[in-house]
Amino acid sequence: MKKIEAIIRKEKFHDVYVVLEKSGIGGMTISEARGFGHHRNGLKDKVKIEIYVDEFQVDKVVDMIRQAAKTGMTGDGKIAILPLENIYRIRTGEDGARAI
Ligand SMILES: Nc1ncnc2c1ncn2[C@@H]1O[C@H](COP(=O)(O)OP(=O)(O)OP(=O)(O)O)[C@@H](O)[C@H]1O
Ligand SMILES: [Mg+2]
Repeated sequence: MKKIEAIIRKEKFHDVYVVLEKSGIGGMTISEARGFGHHRNGLKDKVKIEIYVDEFQVDKVVDMIRQAAKTGMTGDGKIAILPLENIYRIRTGEDGARAI
């Protein structure tokens, strides 16, 4: 299992949401964030997206985010893939991939 963490332009969030909502992911979490990249031109408003996925979903979900979030201009953002040790669904007590 992996956590996909994407930091994208606020203006691109709706486009990303529309494709992810149809993608078969189990869920997602959104936070409003601020940050800077290489250009250090001050803190910019961004959206941070966190998604827990099974291994087989990683490439597809990353491709969807990359396509929907890209403008080609500086500041398009970053996507990180993090190892995920376990997930629990609190209601049922399930864990692992069944809890995604
Ligand atoms: N190394 C990093 N660690 C954590 N967050 C980062 C990092 N780089 C970028 N971010 C986050 O991603 C946002 C967008 O970064 P940005 O796309 O400007 O990166 P960049 O490396 O400067 O690429 P580009 O040249 O396309 O602008 C930043 O505002 C920040 O929130
Ligand atoms: Mg930048």
